[in-house]
Amino acid sequence: MKAILIGFGNVGRTIARILSVERQRFPGLQDLDLKVVGIFTRTRGSIVDDGGLDLACALDAIEQHGRFLPEMKGYCGMSAKEAAEVLDYDVLVELSTLSIDTGGEPALSHIKTALQRSKHAVSANKGPVAFAYHELKKIADEKGVKFLFESAVMDGAPVFNMARNCLKGCQVEEIDGILNSTTNYILTRMEEGISLEEAVREAQKMGFAEADPSNDIDGWDAAAKICVLANAIMDAEINPKEVKRKGIRDITCEYIKVVRQKKKCLKLICSAKKVGTQVITTVEPVEVDEGHFFASVKGEGAVIRLKTDLMGPIIVTQEAPDLYDTAYGVIDDLLTIHRKTI
Ligand SMILES: NC(=O)c1ccc[n+]([C@@H]2O[C@H](COP(=O)([O-])OP(=O)(O)OC[C@H]3O[C@@H](n4cnc5c(N)ncnc54)[C@H](OP(=O)(O)O)[C@@H]3O)[C@@H](O)[C@H]2O)c1
Repeated sequence: MKAILIGFGNVGRTIARILSVERQRFPGLQDLDLKVVGIFTRTRGSIVDDGGLDLACALDAIEQHGRFLPEMKGYCGMSAKEAAEVLDYDVLVELSTLSIDTGGEPALSHIKTALQRSKHAVSANKGPVAFAYHELKKIADEKGVKFLFESAVMDGAPVFNMARNCLKGCQVEEIDGILNSTTNYILTRMEEGISLEEAVREAQKMGFAEADPSNDIDGWDAAAKICVLANAIMDAEINPKEVKRKGIRDITCEYIKVVRQKKKCLKLICSAKKVGTQVITTVEPVEVDEGHFFASVKGEGAVIRLKTDLMGPIIVTQEAPDLYDTAYGVIDDLLTIHRKTI
């Protein structure tokens, strides 16, 4: 199976590492016969080789020089857009940055192009699913290819796989949870007495908050995630700009202290609930009772709860997700396509 990677940042590089220099450590990947035939970035150059790129060499270039070098085999000036349109590949893997302002573009167009060409698409980027799930799924179905995005919410934890494969006959009526690890870490640290600004700096140092943390602290990342869930699992048609959204930017340590005195914890809760024919989505800080399951999710942890009509509530939690979990979500999708199991 031939794949092209759009984006070679934290997630792309971790996937490349797992599939090359660390592959021996993961015997479960033995049957994944995958050739990466192109890698495209915004500012670090692009490389293409129809026979399969040397991923260790690609990693080395980025680690040593911060970019692909013109003397590398396959170095070219091709953009991701052109690659999606003209290259010979079986699956396009979208690992570029989430963009709310542009409505999920250009990732959305990359995926649409691939699907229209009857190529599979896998996305860790939430944007295309949050803004255009039904349109993309319809093209995928018409063309007989897969559009999968397990790592878009809770990394590799089986959320979409579970909803698709393990809840046959159930209607999901409500989803709620803590879906943004960065804000959960910040709120946990604020409970321990440090300011929001200090907690953001810590999260940046530890590598899980971006240089511009607004997507996290203003609730945009969480809004995109609840849309992905509502669209893909509850058949909603909603985008992040339509979610009732309040982030944690204005939360102070004094307020957190008052919440703790009431034996509660402040959590940024995402929810999607069926009300009649509509799905109502919200992202907001909520005071959760100390004994509630969500209160036990600390630091970079995340949790999701699905309520269905037939099967009682199911909770999936993640303790301290890292880039391997995200990379796994993408690899799981690739294996699904490779094994043609769904
Ligand atoms: N990190 C996580 O733990 C995690 C978890 C779940 C989901 N995700 C999602 O996975 C995706 C990748 O995350 P990441 O942490 O790897 O991000 P990242 O480190 O910021 O890397 C993003 C990559 O995308 C490239 N890119 C951006 N726009 C592009 C374009 N128009 N054409 C080609 N390449 C483009 C960037 O190129 P340059 O290097 O040249 O800028 C970079 O290589 C994001 O959508 C993120 O939300 C991440």
